[in-house]
Amino acid sequence: MSSWDQLLKGKVAIVTGASRGIGRADALALAEAGADVVITDILIESDEESGKIAQKYGPLSQVMQSTKVVYAEKTAKEIQEMGRRSFAIKMDVTDREQVKEVFARVKEEFGSIDILVNNAGTLDHVSQIENQRDDFWERDLNVNLTGAYNCTKAVWPYMKEQGWGRIINMSSVAGTLGGFGQASYSATKGGLLSFTKSMALEGARHGINVNAIVPGIIATEAFKMTNPKMNERMINRTAFRRPGEPEDIANAIVFLCSDKAKYITGIGLNVSGGIELFTF
Ligand SMILES: NC(=O)c1ccc[n+]([C@@H]2O[C@H](COP(=O)([O-])OP(=O)(O)OC[C@H]3O[C@@H](n4cnc5c(N)ncnc54)[C@H](O)[C@@H]3O)[C@@H](O)[C@H]2O)c1
Repeated sequence: MSSWDQLLKGKVAIVTGASRGIGRADALALAEAGADVVITDILIESDEESGKIAQKYGPLSQVMQSTKVVYAEKTAKEIQEMGRRSFAIKMDVTDREQVKEVFARVKEEFGSIDILVNNAGTLDHVSQIENQRDDFWERDLNVNLTGAYNCTKAVWPYMKEQGWGRIINMSSVAGTLGGFGQASYSATKGGLLSFTKSMALEGARHGINVNAIVPGIIATEAFKMTNPKMNERMINRTAFRRPGEPEDIANAIVFLCSDKAKYITGIGLNVSGGIELFTF
C-alpha cells in the first residue's frame, strides 16, 4: 500500500493563483504528496510590474502587493527543498496566449502536465446589485470562470494524449447557496460547478477526472482582511463554529488527484465545516 507522501509521486501539477492562501497550501500539499509543482500567479515577488498589475486587479491585490503578502518564489523554493522540481512564473489566467506559453514550457521542461488546480479567484467586494460595479462583474467572470476555461482548454491536449489527468476547480458555497451582495462572485462559482460536470463527462473517455472543491469559510490572508463582523456571522452559521484552514482544502485536493479517487468525477466536494447545513 502506498503512503500519503508517495500518492502523487512522478506527477506534475500546475496551480493557478498560488502566491498565497489556498493556492499556496495546495501547491505545498501536492509537493508533499510527491508531485513536482509549478506556481503561477499574477503576482510574483521579483516582478517589477507587480505594482501595475495589482492596480489593474483591484484593492485586495494592491494591499497584498504593497504589504508583500506574495510568496510565489518562496513557495517554489520550499518545494525544491523537499526534493521536488518547482518554479514560479507570472501567469494571468485571463491571458490565453500567456497560459498556452506557460503550459508549453512546463510540458517541455517537466515532460508532462498531470494535475491542474484552477484556484485563481477574486473575492474582494460585497455589494448589492444596484451598487455592483460593472467592471468588477466583468473581471470576476473573466478571472474566476473564463480563467478556468482557458487553463482547462490549454491542458486538455496534454492530458488527453497521455490518457491521464486530474483537474480541480475551486468553487465556493457562494456557488451552491448564493451569496448576499455577491452577484458576480456567486455566479462564477455556480458556473464552475456546471463547467466541472460537463468537463467530467468529456474527460471520462480520456482518463481525465474533473472535480470541484466547494470551500466554506477558510482562514486565508484574504479572509483575515475582510470585515470582522461579517466573518463572525459566517463562522456562527458554520456547524464547527470556526473557519477551516487552507490545508483542509489542500488535503482534499491531494485525495481527489490520487488514484485512490479514480472513480470520482464531476463532483463538488464540500470542505465547508457544515456551513450549508440547517442550523438554528
Ligand atoms: N478563503 C475562503 O474563505 C474561500 C471560500 C470559498 C472559495 N474560495 C476560493 O478559493 C480560491 C483561493 O482563495 P483565497 O482565500 O486563497 O484567496 P486569495 O485572494 O488570497 O488568492 C487568490 C489568488 O489568485 C490570484 N489571482 C487573482 N487574479 C488572478 C489572475 N487573473 N490570474 C492568476 N492569478 C490571479 C491572486 O493574486 C491570489 O494569489 C479562490 O478561487 C476563492 O474564490 C476561498
